[in-house]
Amino acid sequence: MISHAKIETNFFLMLVLVLITVSIGGIVEIAPLFTIETTIEKVQGVRPYSPLELAGRNIYIREGCYLCHSQMIRPFRDEAERYGHYSIAAESMYDHPFQWGSKRTGPDLARVGGKYSDDWHRAHLMDPRSVVPESIMPSYAFLEERELDPNSIAAHLQTLRELGVPYTDEDIQDAAADMAAQANPDADTSALLARYPKAATGAFDGDPTRLTEMDALIAYLQVLGRMVDFADYRTEDLTQ
Ligand code: HEC
Repeated sequence: MISHAKIETNFFLMLVLVLITVSIGGIVEIAPLFTIETTIEKVQGVRPYSPLELAGRNIYIREGCYLCHSQMIRPFRDEAERYGHYSIAAESMYDHPFQWGSKRTGPDLARVGGKYSDDWHRAHLMDPRSVVPESIMPSYAFLEERELDPNSIAAHLQTLRELGVPYTDEDIQDAAADMAAQANPDADTSALLARYPKAATGAFDGDPTRLTEMDALIAYLQVLGRMVDFADYRTEDLTQ
């Protein structure tokens, strides 16, 4: 048995024993992770983004919305009371890259889907001050002038599939058609909704004849936080 005094006065012995202790702790924590495929539990309702939502997400990233908005509700009472159920890992499992963000100049958007009408979002993005007079959010009116290119979206689905997002061959093949159908109130959306349940449909920007970046961004905002059904949400969950 090595006495304490011996360890405490021998620098080298102390170092070796510390290293051994720390490695055991490290192995116990890290080794089990190699035996499981993923640490994210699959949750019912979480699905890949529809092509139009994905295009909107690209615009969200391009315009730097994440610089002012987070998409991550932390498990604290004040957050959950303001924004709804705290974010769960599965909700961003198909996000490449995720949009958790680290700055809240504006509110968290993780559950903004369904909170406002499409018209409200359009008015807000065109001129935030028209609906929230004290807003400091910039105007994004130009999005309504920019047509969306339906031809490049299939390649994006394909790329995401390589990163592990489960898009099928059919999803990729019909991506451009799905994109147009989602923003056209007269289109047959049954195939789209079978593939992407709960996708919001309609003339998001108010003009069904044109497919614009405004359509895509609103479609994306309207799906945020709506995939998982938190109807049985209870505040006791906060302590779990
Ligand atoms: C300079 C910071 C800033 C940027 C950049 C910004 N926002 Fe905002 N946003 C705000 C602020 C502040 C508010 C709260 C006032 C308001 O509702 O306008 C807000 C509110 C919102 C809301 C309403 C949220 C709610 O729950 O009431 C949405 C939706 C939104 N922003 C979307 C966007 C999108 C999409 C983009 C990118 C195209 C964006 N924002 C870029 C600052 C910003």
